[in-house]
Amino acid sequence: MLVTRYDVVERLEGVEADALAVLVFKGEDIKEVFGGLDAVVGNALSSLSELGSFTFDEGKVEVIYAPSAPFKRLIVVGGGEGKATTETLRVYGGAAVTKARELGVKRLAIHFRCPDSVDTPHKCLEAVAEGASLANYSWSRKSSSSDAKRVEEAFLVGSEPIEGWEDVLRVVDAVADACRLGRDLANAPASEINPATFVERVKEEFKGLPVKMEVLEEDELRKLGMNGILAVGKGSEVRPRLLIIEYKGAGDGNPWYVVVGKGVCFDAGGLDIKPASSMLEMKYDKSGAAYAVAVAYGAAKLGLKVNLAVLAPLVENLPSGKSYKPLDVIKMYNGLTVEVANTDAEGRLILADALAYAAEKYRPAAMVDLATLTGGVIVALGNHAAGLFSNDEELKEELLRLSEDTGERLWPFPLWREYYEDIKSDVADVKNIGYPRVASSIIGAAFLSKFVGDVKWAHIDIAGTAWTQQEGPKKPYYPKGATAYCVRLLLKFLAEREE
Ligand code: BES
Ligand code: MN
Ligand code: ZN
Repeated sequence: MLVTRYDVVERLEGVEADALAVLVFKGEDIKEVFGGLDAVVGNALSSLSELGSFTFDEGKVEVIYAPSAPFKRLIVVGGGEGKATTETLRVYGGAAVTKARELGVKRLAIHFRCPDSVDTPHKCLEAVAEGASLANYSWSRKSSSSDAKRVEEAFLVGSEPIEGWEDVLRVVDAVADACRLGRDLANAPASEINPATFVERVKEEFKGLPVKMEVLEEDELRKLGMNGILAVGKGSEVRPRLLIIEYKGAGDGNPWYVVVGKGVCFDAGGLDIKPASSMLEMKYDKSGAAYAVAVAYGAAKLGLKVNLAVLAPLVENLPSGKSYKPLDVIKMYNGLTVEVANTDAEGRLILADALAYAAEKYRPAAMVDLATLTGGVIVALGNHAAGLFSNDEELKEELLRLSEDTGERLWPFPLWREYYEDIKSDVADVKNIGYPRVASSIIGAAFLSKFVGDVKWAHIDIAGTAWTQQEGPKKPYYPKGATAYCVRLLLKFLAEREE
């Protein structure tokens, strides 16, 4: 637990810590808001704005050393101008911790303020603590840990009492731990995580949590006719699996919710092999599965009163003498036949079986899949939003609304009838790609929609946001590597559906 408490303090300048973080908005009267503090640091805070070199843009950071003050260093974070949102506060918490880590700070005090533009202090508290907790993560296998400096303890200090701060911080801690698990699974390279070790690691992590876990191995997959998962998995020495986690927080008679995640532990492309440069990041092609599992973990830790089933089809997409081949025809779990026009469009094949199985078995009230499905979504949206596709307007609107709230941006794409022309096959019910470089993200989603029946379903293409890439997502609460994109969003979605 990083953020342990919320203290009401009369004098900010008396706070004892290795560093104190403050949030300052553009054009703010520093003397008025931080008068006492400014005096203690010899007016260095107000001179930041008077000298004009520091802009107070959102997330910008400056450090003021104050060796004789009880907080030793002041970490000044800009809040930008105009309407502050929960995202402004999340960025603040993240920037404060990121800078504190650079400075080797062990005990960090974070000044808490809640702008008028955010409706409750609880939302503010949650956002600051969330940003701080998410920023305190890093993944490394260096033999010395000195590079991965972490803040050991953070606490919030504010001027007004906040009823129930303990509960807010407890929730934040569980959510951050779920993100930690999602990131750990996604960041691990293929030398550590394959379909077998993914399951082992998950079992280890879920010890003591009230979930039922089932792993369908090759024999069962064959019996069930999950030939999409089996075909993609053929090229690897490690057999494919379907991991199913059931968390029954609402009990019998209440609706199920389903989250499915793409678990391609390494995507070399199969026989339609990728060029080396595109293969380089394909350990992350299991991010969807990692984050779906993280959602189950978070729901169980929080004790949410919902019934949740998480399905993660796990494979490696590798070229070998055993690999599935271009123009193979696969009969899928739901009976549809698929012409494999390209073995690198593998995610949709494994998801299709998992989606069809979940739709039939759970008859869920809503089903969402997370997948690093297409490079095309990066062409369309860059690294600043994930693509959203759905067969249900209400579900789509709900997810869009939540994404504004959690800062995990989503952007909607259409699934018009015309797109389905592109996946018509001469020899099978459907083929797994359309025309090269033509709406590939929509085509991928259209393919998936053929396997969900009448279930309310949304597909989130996180290929551009599952890990930090060239352009982003750049946030101080996203350390390099896996982001756990949409884990917070889906936990919120479930929390709103508690019985
Ligand atoms: N895993 C990739 C998609 C991907 C690309 C994710 C870049 C993250 C970053 C997926 O399996 C894939 O290879 N998609 C192909 C599909 C194509 C063959 C129709 C793509 O998007 O190029
Ligand atoms: Mn691929
Ligand atoms: Zn892939």
